[in-house]
Amino acid sequence: MIKIAPSILSADFSRLGEEIKMLNESGADMVHIDIMDGHFVPNLTIGPLVIEKLRGLSDLPFDVHLMMDNPMDFIDDFVDAGANIISIHAEAVHHLHRSIIAIKEKGVKASVTLNPSTPLNVLDYVIEDLDMVLLMTVNPGFGGQSYIPSMTRKIKDLRAMANKFKPDLDIEVDGGINIENIGEVVKAGANVIVSGSSIFMAKEPKKMIEKLRNFAMV
Ligand code: DX5
Ligand code: ZN
Repeated sequence: MIKIAPSILSADFSRLGEEIKMLNESGADMVHIDIMDGHFVPNLTIGPLVIEKLRGLSDLPFDVHLMMDNPMDFIDDFVDAGANIISIHAEAVHHLHRSIIAIKEKGVKASVTLNPSTPLNVLDYVIEDLDMVLLMTVNPGFGGQSYIPSMTRKIKDLRAMANKFKPDLDIEVDGGINIENIGEVVKAGANVIVSGSSIFMAKEPKKMIEKLRNFAMV
């Protein structure tokens, strides 16, 4: 089943509550929340305090993407704030296996994110322990960038690897996804689709979510 995860990075932050309520009635499957620290990526966003406030407005799963150094220092805060899925970047931790286990012990789903240039082999011996892998299909830090074409090959390779070692792995893709290329990433093996600017810059975001779902069925 395809899951659509709108990224609120491109939402109107002055009306974040209303944007979240809009997503509640949009058919979206989860809310993708981008956390940036100004070190791991050259941008800053929000932290657990904002997530905690949003939690009161939605029952949708919160898919929290940590683009930060030392993410393990803040796992408790994000879990307490209401995260349901936590993605840490493989590039940001020294002990990936230990970090995955620690996240799962908190009772939330564990996901590892890879930057576009990071090879899949960092997952070789942890894939069985993961609920999801988040493949960046742009370099992280900003919304509105273009999909990197070689990522289609990476998605296919990861789906082949998952079929061998973790058949029910969710493969999430993040960056530059729109109605033009959603079919391609789904065909390659992705099943969780993040989309920020294409949804929130659309005249009618709810209709765009529906459209993305239709274009995913290829
Ligand atoms: C980028 C973020 C994305 C971003 C995607 O670093 O991780 O979640 O919001 O935005 P679009 O869909 O506009 O590429
Ligand atoms: Zn993201």
